Amino acid sequence: MLVKPRVFITRELFDDVMQRISEYYDVEVWDRYQAPPYDVLLSKVKEVNALISLLSDRIDCGLLSSAPKLRIVAQLAVGFDNIDLECATRRGIYITNTPGVLTEATAEFTWALILSTARRVVEGDIFVRFGEWWRLKTAWHPKMLLGIELRGKTLGIVGLGRIGKRVAEIGVKGFGMRVLYYDLRRDLEAERELGVEFKELEEVFKESDVVSVHVPLTPETRWLVGEGLLRLMKKNAILINTSRGGVVDTKALIKALQEGWIAGAGLDVYEEEPLPPNHPLTAFKNVVLAPHAASATYEARHGMAETVAENLITFYEGKIPPNLVNKEVTSVRAPGFT
Ligand code: GLV
Repeated sequence: MLVKPRVFITRELFDDVMQRISEYYDVEVWDRYQAPPYDVLLSKVKEVNALISLLSDRIDCGLLSSAPKLRIVAQLAVGFDNIDLECATRRGIYITNTPGVLTEATAEFTWALILSTARRVVEGDIFVRFGEWWRLKTAWHPKMLLGIELRGKTLGIVGLGRIGKRVAEIGVKGFGMRVLYYDLRRDLEAERELGVEFKELEEVFKESDVVSVHVPLTPETRWLVGEGLLRLMKKNAILINTSRGGVVDTKALIKALQEGWIAGAGLDVYEEEPLPPNHPLTAFKNVVLAPHAASATYEARHGMAETVAENLITFYEGKIPPNLVNKEVTSVRAPGFT
């Protein structure tokens, strides 16, 4: 290509990374905090050769079909359930993601949710901040804000991928927990090295004191955690979700919380995002709510942006990008802009 290919970035990234991308691409950035409306995205993709997307951008077949020059969508996320992969592959559009760099941040945040739910940290903060502690005129009471201790308890991991495995490792090594897991594939190496035990999904929910979900959102995992599994949980167990909101049936979770089937939940993701402030989930004291922030460390987010740049530059050089998601696309079109 004599002129640089054009890339549209749907949200501002870090300056150094934008600089790097602009050595290869003619960059246009959507500089508002909110996502570009769908019709703006639609008009942009008509012109550009590459797109950097976020999981809040809907990259459906209508959009991909309106983009005759679009060759690559580099998603700034590990998940890509907002993108119609099959349609992209058919149209010869490469889709990349950013795995690995956010594993630690997401696993650490999962533990932040486990601990704050088990030990009622947010409830305690509100108790102090809004004067309830003061009004009670009791500095300390043997039964005040009792939570759940983790050592020796059972942690259930649903989906033993990169993030699930790191959460398991912290559970085993940091808290002395017994760890059960369910995954479509058994991981014998993790079983040997971490001592995690494979169990059927129902057993994981039945036996665990903490269940943490780490599967991608696919047609098979939508509402995977519904009334059936929630009813199997122990009354003093907690549910943690840092994967995708759609993996948990929200209505069933609300019922479980209302009727006391479980002791609480720590959530970072929701079927509807942003979660409206009057959402029924906000009414529970025993639920910790985070704003889809598990990967929100400087290290992870900068690493994600660098990974996006790496994928775009490799593609520009006519090579298969390191984090290609739809691998079959290589038989539809060769990488690069020629
Ligand atoms: C965040 O949710 C991601 O998929 O990276």
